[in-house]
Amino acid sequence: MTPTVHLKINNQTIEAPADATVLETALREDIYIPSLCYHEALEPEGVCRLCIVAVQNEDEAEQSVRISCKLKVAEGMVIKTDTQRINASRRLILKRLLKRAPDAKVITDMAARYGITPDPDVSEQEADGCVLCGRCVHVCRDKIGPAVFSVTGRGASRKVTADADRLQECIGCGACAQVCPTDAIRVIDAEGFREIYTWGEMMVRFQLEKCEHCGTPFAPKRYLDFINKRAYIPKGLELVDYICPKCFKDGDRASQARRAGALRGSIVKWSVPR
Ligand code: SF4
Ligand code: SF4
Ligand code: FES
Repeated sequence: MTPTVHLKINNQTIEAPADATVLETALREDIYIPSLCYHEALEPEGVCRLCIVAVQNEDEAEQSVRISCKLKVAEGMVIKTDTQRINASRRLILKRLLKRAPDAKVITDMAARYGITPDPDVSEQEADGCVLCGRCVHVCRDKIGPAVFSVTGRGASRKVTADADRLQECIGCGACAQVCPTDAIRVIDAEGFREIYTWGEMMVRFQLEKCEHCGTPFAPKRYLDFINKRAYIPKGLELVDYICPKCFKDGDRASQARRAGALRGSIVKWSVPR
């Protein structure tokens, strides 16, 4: 069992598992700390710096400012989430982010909490909606594999780009769009095709395979092959028919058979019973 520690966040005494971060602990306790690059499915990278907090450890004489999504809790730790200095830093960051994504609700909501509104004079070139959080980079590289996105440039010219060569490896899973907080990456499934748009332009287009059960086009073949390879083949299974998530979840004959087969781990190849 994971040992627990006791810490104070804004004068509130909290017990937390020793392997938790300060941000996770605050979120669990409903204590607001703004965050952007953090995503529960990804390793924290500490890019946006919105989640900074003032920290004083038991053995330290002074407070320091640390990134809470990467900071592990410790016994006796004292945290302040909204000192004047911290809020001033957050305002500066949010002003910059608003220039990049003035229409993104996640940004305007956070900015409003700190009394900042979008600047109407922002040029379109500056406002491509990407706030450089890096989530798309990390999910594609660390969870899916193709590493289509990368961060290029420094300072004001820093940006996230899709590599034309790596794009050949894209499987059309849409995970990048799912984690993008501003909708700068979007997936559109229509008329039997999946199109993925990055910063307003179409990046890739895939034909969608149809569900064997209900006939709805639902996923690119490459994505289904990926699931087969990643989830089923290691268990001695192989999907030979495709079933959309809705039919899979509905508890119909097909999905029950599939789930049972997958759980048993004993079927090498099977088809959906009709
Ligand atoms: S859709 Fe393509 S670019 Fe996006 S995460 Fe999946 S593989 Fe990567
Ligand atoms: S495209 Fe979206 S996920 Fe990727 S860095 Fe920009 S804001 Fe973050
Ligand atoms: S959420 Fe912690 S640095 Fe971005």
